[in-house]
Amino acid sequence: MLLTGQTKWSALLLAIVGSSLCLALPLDDDRRALLRKEKMLHIGGELLLTEQEELANEKLMALKNAEISQAMKKNQFPPSMHFFQAKKLIEESKVFQILKKMPKGAALHLHDFGILSVDWLVKNVTYRPHCHFCFTPRGDLKFKFADPAPPTAKPENCSEWILLAKYRRQLQNVTEFDNSLLQNFTLVLENPEIAYSDQAVIWARFESAFIAVSGLVHYAPVFKEYFTRGLEEFYEDNVQYLELRAMLNPIHLGSCFFSSLYDSEVYELNGQTYDQEWSLKTYQEEAQKFAKDHPDFIGARIIYSDHRINDVDHIADSVQTAMKLRVKFPESMAGFDLVGQEDKGHSLWQLKEALLLPATQGFDLPYFFHAGETNWQGTSIDENILDALLLNTTRIGHGFAMGKHPMARNISWNRDIPIEVCPISNQVLHLVSDLRNHPAASLMSTGHPMVVSSDDPAVFGAKGLSYDFYEAFMGIGGIKADLRTLKQLALNSIKYSSLTVEKKKITKEVWQKKWDKFVNDLARGNEAMK
Ligand SMILES: *[C@@H]1O[C@H](CO)[C@@H](O)[C@H](O)[C@H]1NC(C)=O
Ligand SMILES: *[C@@H]1O[C@H](CO)[C@@H](O)[C@H](O)[C@H]1NC(C)=O
Ligand SMILES: *[C@@H]1O[C@H](CO)[C@@H](O)[C@H](O)[C@H]1NC(C)=O
Ligand SMILES: *[C@@H]1O[C@H](CO)[C@@H](O)[C@H](O)[C@H]1NC(C)=O
Ligand SMILES: *[C@@H]1O[C@H](CO)[C@@H](O)[C@H](O)[C@H]1NC(C)=O
Ligand SMILES: *[C@@H]1O[C@H](CO)[C@@H](O)[C@H](O)[C@H]1NC(C)=O
Ligand SMILES: [Zn+2]
Repeated sequence: MLLTGQTKWSALLLAIVGSSLCLALPLDDDRRALLRKEKMLHIGGELLLTEQEELANEKLMALKNAEISQAMKKNQFPPSMHFFQAKKLIEESKVFQILKKMPKGAALHLHDFGILSVDWLVKNVTYRPHCHFCFTPRGDLKFKFADPAPPTAKPENCSEWILLAKYRRQLQNVTEFDNSLLQNFTLVLENPEIAYSDQAVIWARFESAFIAVSGLVHYAPVFKEYFTRGLEEFYEDNVQYLELRAMLNPIHLGSCFFSSLYDSEVYELNGQTYDQEWSLKTYQEEAQKFAKDHPDFIGARIIYSDHRINDVDHIADSVQTAMKLRVKFPESMAGFDLVGQEDKGHSLWQLKEALLLPATQGFDLPYFFHAGETNWQGTSIDENILDALLLNTTRIGHGFAMGKHPMARNISWNRDIPIEVCPISNQVLHLVSDLRNHPAASLMSTGHPMVVSSDDPAVFGAKGLSYDFYEAFMGIGGIKADLRTLKQLALNSIKYSSLTVEKKKITKEVWQKKWDKFVNDLARGNEAMK
């Protein structure tokens, strides 16, 4: 066990007292009881570990404590650093290697085109024939596959379409260009604190990345392969199931800059486009195919998502469509959500007429609202977290502001509605810098319902779920978070998924088998973990 300053001091005190007076201090029992109580309250604190799990826990905690001691000495602790700078250090961590091996259950908060590392997009997709690109007035890149070349009439006001293959042929240094493409698809750079001075800047870049990627991934053959490769990446990171927020609707060309540039229709080379049903059906088929090829993977479900910048009439249409799709694709269609920067969009309350449609029709459309992804306490956006609960949300995306809302905390606790904590996303998007100070820390310490997810790992330069688990385990959970914390988070991810009771049971069995093996390997010595 790592001795913190305080425990070291009390151990010393005990030694002195014990040797000279043979007397316990009157407060010792009380103090022990308090510590035990706090330990029990912490997420997973009540779990009883098996003998093997206890052994595994000792191994894990020895490594964790060693890494934290080292971090204190060097004054360099990855969770308190920006992820872009911490990533290399995290990859050197033995705890991280263990977390990669750990079966993590489900990833419940992910977005359609942020799940796959971007290398493949650059190295494979942009090298396919008939790939064109243009620059928007703001300097964003946009792509389109087309044969014949796309028409020059450009409602989006992009520059002339340029054939990528031709463009590459006349470049001096293609590697340099390809690197610039990689940069367009993620937020990663060397000096994030300086380059991304505030939330407006980072969100503009964040949406640019999605605009750049959207033209590539909406090309039908790429659409399918992107999703399958995304599943593969999570599968390899020991995730058993995922839920994906997907923008299936052709976004109307409103005033929103983002909407007018983001392609959301899947298309073919000849310009033919597909509707939402096709996209959902494709997701379903690809997920089923993948699960069939990988019996230890359960699959994926889709949360139909629209952009919160859209007005109430548009959202009403979307909700209607979502209801229709839920009837037609009960197996894949989990529910509905609103995405995009919360501070800049409509509040849930402004959209209530649309969001109340299912309830007034007696229709069950589960909600998975992003809410409380803001630092502006007291705004109507900040109140989204209460409105989400009023609207019977099934889970709360981020719930970053939960700690500021005692009633939200109360209802979420009593109704067992979890928050989906995405540590790296919150840090990169400027809500918190040192992850030890993430508001989920206080919620973890009381065992509040929560799951850990990764939001858009590819855009943040992360991969799968393990990096976020590392931040949650090492940073947010504090020094004492142990195997119980990890086990509870994995169990929670299955419990709070949108799967049916039966499917949850199957998922739990698949997970349990992997967990037992993981625990055995860890208990038997770290060699097996390498
Ligand atoms: C892209 O990858 C596919 C396999 O998924 C391969 O068949 C194809 O040749 C690759 N294309 C390029 C341009 O590298
Ligand atoms: C394109 O540019 C024209 C002229 O600057 C402008 O009137 C129009 O609104 C722009 N269209 C879009 C979709 O931004
Ligand atoms: C091309 O650019 C890359 C990356 O900037 C660099 O490493 C490489 O040396 C350059 N190659 C040439 C031939 O200049
Ligand atoms: C995106 O790529 C273009 C073309 O190479 C480049 O000019 C631009 O700097 C890149 N943008 C970013 C944010 O890296
Ligand atoms: C939320 O659930 C409660 C209790 O089941 C119900 O009375 C209420 O009408 C629901 N509200 C909405 C908006 O679905
Ligand atoms: C929170 O919920 C509990 C029920 O578990 C209730 O007794 C308590 O009064 C609530 N707290 C507040 C502030 O309403
Ligand atoms: Zn999100």
